[in-house]
Amino acid sequence: MPITTCVFDAYGTLFDVAAAARQAAAEPGFEALQHKWPDLAKHWRLKQLQYTWLRAITDAHTDFWDVTQDGLDWALEATGLQGDATLRQRLLDLYWELQAYAEVPEMLAALKAGGLQTAILSNGSPPMLDGAVQSAGIGAVLDDVLSVETVGVFKPHPYVYDLVQQRFGCPRDEVLFVSSNGWDAAGASGYGFVSAWVNRAGEPMDRLPWKPAHVLSDLTTIPQMAGL
Ligand code: LAC
Repeated sequence: MPITTCVFDAYGTLFDVAAAARQAAAEPGFEALQHKWPDLAKHWRLKQLQYTWLRAITDAHTDFWDVTQDGLDWALEATGLQGDATLRQRLLDLYWELQAYAEVPEMLAALKAGGLQTAILSNGSPPMLDGAVQSAGIGAVLDDVLSVETVGVFKPHPYVYDLVQQRFGCPRDEVLFVSSNGWDAAGASGYGFVSAWVNRAGEPMDRLPWKPAHVLSDLTTIPQMAGL
């Protein structure tokens, strides 16, 4: 089936989640981050995601802003940076205005010009996603921003992927689902979407029963992948 709808994960896929720690490290007053920011960013992201999975399987949902703060607190302690309330607040503020990857606006505009439907499908809460979309200036090239908050459980629960069909009414195999998270791209393949894993860091493939249809190093070839 031809692709009619392109759906993107948000954090790590369209928005650079390491940007908050990297940017804070360059600001005066946060010199302690200069060598530690890569470790901090890595721990922060990993804990944030682990908490989403744990909350999903224990039926203890809370929103993504809560797990983002919990993950940051764990990461600050792991890197010996706990107790700096100003740094904590700055990192959290920066999370609301993460930079989009450079190729994102042009890629989304090409999809829209080609007549495809475009959306975000994210663990993020609606206010967080609004902040990120606005700060990246990509609202006009997205048909919708779908949040797991509608179903109250995190990815890769199938209820989350169901939101795409509910919104756009298209069959699963007409959806190109794009994520930088190997487990999310795999989950979407298992669900029946055509999935593309954006593997910027050259990580190994996740050992899961499902594999992405495409593996990319950035988002520039998405319009081709969608048949344009
Ligand atoms: C999201 C996380 C998984 O945006 O990156 O859903």
